[in-house]
Amino acid sequence: MNNQENILIEVKNIKKSFGDLYTLKDISIVLEKNHFVSIVGPSGCGKSTLFDVIAGLEKPDRGNVFIEGKNHNGKTGRVSYMHQKDLLFPWSNIIDNVCVPLLIKGYKKKDAANIAAKHFAAFGLEGFEKRYPSQLSGGMRQRAALLRTYLFADDIMLLDEPFASLDSITRKKMQLWLLKIWEQINASIFFITHDIDEAIFLSDRIYLLSPRPATVKGIFDIDIQRPRGSTVFTSEKFNHIKEEIFKLLY
Ligand SMILES: Nc1ncnc2c1ncn2[C@@H]1O[C@H](COP(=O)(O)OP(=O)(O)OP(=O)(O)O)[C@@H](O)[C@H]1O
Ligand SMILES: [Mg+2]
Repeated sequence: MNNQENILIEVKNIKKSFGDLYTLKDISIVLEKNHFVSIVGPSGCGKSTLFDVIAGLEKPDRGNVFIEGKNHNGKTGRVSYMHQKDLLFPWSNIIDNVCVPLLIKGYKKKDAANIAAKHFAAFGLEGFEKRYPSQLSGGMRQRAALLRTYLFADDIMLLDEPFASLDSITRKKMQLWLLKIWEQINASIFFITHDIDEAIFLSDRIYLLSPRPATVKGIFDIDIQRPRGSTVFTSEKFNHIKEEIFKLLY
């Protein structure tokens, strides 16, 4: 059940087509303050499209996106958004890359660099300020992209499969890191993933979407105690939730 007072984002009955491609049929999802909510669904069902609608980059054909109670259909700028193919500019060093949102907001270059520099340690990037993306590991590049997202708007973040390209060991490390940092920054996160284990481990809630045209096929509230560590992956509760999700999936 949702706690009405804590609702930050309410996505209500969203429908979206691209020409004759019927993508989102009827999607209603909610993000509460300080919650971590995952969206899981088959490839091509419209998850990234849903984020584009929430971020205001695409207008829904029907339905509404409310952020803090206000209608945000087609309005950009309130939430930060890490795209699925979030690439850092290869020609800029890491500090310049992560400063982009601050420069857009009107900060002077030096002030932006000072603000960003404060977060390099927490994001595991200390000492790499002047390096270029090609000189970083895959995990570090993802952390740099996350830092850039965080610097755009630190309280509501949309993360579209941020770890998809990583090997499984790095991915696990990044999941543990993300939880740790999320517990410190008090952000509210919508997170897209294909990985059920990742979704359970990270989330307060999972919305399972159907194939296109997408509807919400299942809602799972994950009542695993926080802070969570790697032992969660082998716990009885974890496996039970996984079984319930698999029942709906296959
Ligand atoms: N701007 C667009 N114009 C036309 N069609 C689009 C556009 N954006 C997405 N689509 C189509 O909408 C459908 C859903 O795409 P979307 O990227 O939202 O899926 P997804 O669930 O994120 O998939 P994946 O898991 O592979 O990332 C796809 O068939 C895609 O080709
Ligand atoms: Mg996608």
